[in-house]
Amino acid sequence: MRGTTVGAISETASVSDEGTETADVSRETDPPAAAGDDAVAESDKAADALANVTVRDDAVPETDEDTPLARAVAEDARKREALVGRELPRPAETRILTVANQKGGVGKTTTAVNIAAALAQGGATVLVIDLDPQGNASTALGIEHHSEVPSIYDVLVDGDPLSTVVQPCPDIEGLFCAPATIDLAGAEIELVSLVARETRLKKAITAYTQELAEQGSTLDYVFIDCPPSLGLLTVNAFVAAGEVFIPIQCEYYALEGLSQLLRNIELIRDHLNPALHVSTILLTMYDGRTRLSAQVADEVRSHFAEQTLKATVPRSVRISEAPSHGQTVMTYDPNSSGALSYLEAASEMAALGAEKSEDRS
Ligand SMILES: Nc1ncnc2c1ncn2[C@@H]1O[C@H](COP(=O)(O)OP(=O)(O)OP(=O)(O)O)[C@@H](O)[C@H]1O
Ligand SMILES: [Mg+2]
Repeated sequence: MRGTTVGAISETASVSDEGTETADVSRETDPPAAAGDDAVAESDKAADALANVTVRDDAVPETDEDTPLARAVAEDARKREALVGRELPRPAETRILTVANQKGGVGKTTTAVNIAAALAQGGATVLVIDLDPQGNASTALGIEHHSEVPSIYDVLVDGDPLSTVVQPCPDIEGLFCAPATIDLAGAEIELVSLVARETRLKKAITAYTQELAEQGSTLDYVFIDCPPSLGLLTVNAFVAAGEVFIPIQCEYYALEGLSQLLRNIELIRDHLNPALHVSTILLTMYDGRTRLSAQVADEVRSHFAEQTLKATVPRSVRISEAPSHGQTVMTYDPNSSGALSYLEAASEMAALGAEKSEDRS
């Protein structure tokens, strides 16, 4: 069944590289149009206010939900009540997900580290592989990644075992990271002349999971954070993974280039990794007050109904501040609406994975 999934997506996906299909997505804003940084700061203030509200185990505070802000606060309270501190179901087998979108700045790294952190907080053992020379995922997880640190470059180019580069994340138990250093910028070219250049990451992950199994431990999830390109590093990630996780920013041109990404995934599936399929899509930087966000979300859901998570991630100052403190928003401000949204997305992902494990058995 996995083999048909991507084919079905590309048949239904009528998005074009020129973005013509998205051209009818208007830039209109529902009145009152309070979008922008001030509005984002306002909603973060609301989250702060919420953090000081004590929510009893058996009750969600009664609020007048007539205003958007009150609705957002009440919604966050509901999420907090339902999700915080809950153990999440763990998959029967290690799920390896490549977080990809060749568009830059759409929230790939932010999504990879925050979903990974939320799953680890929910009791899973999670490895984040930073495959982007920018090293943003390593920074966000508080992991050293200056040029002397053993890194994913040593694994890919020199064939070092993954176990020699993996570091525990200081803030969250069960969360680990294989960091990227600036050396990785050269790997794209160095890999070209190496033997089995497309399968080097896959081999390293397989050897690592076997090594862990011999010690009696397992990984529940591996997230591979990709650079915004479709070079050999991303190909290695696609070959190593079973699933592709695509964050989509709720902005104009959001779907531009998506059909090219899907075509590349199909090529990888046909030639290098028959198991690869798009399992998860997450709408990021969603602004419920703008018609544009709602239209992009509708468009994505109409093409990818099964894959798109119900949870959406709002634009949030807390999310963008967290990496400068070497943290994910899950520890930087666990009560913020951004953290709660990532927790909601992670629990949805975990629940769907558990359902699929049951289907297989
Ligand atoms: N929900 C959000 N609210 C506010 N800012 C966000 C949100 N998600 C991401 N950002 C910010 O947007 C910028 C781009 O995000 P991120 O680095 O995760 O994207 P990316 O797709 O990994 O980028 P690249 O293509 O360069 O790897 C960052 O500064 C990040 O802090
Ligand atoms: Mg990134």
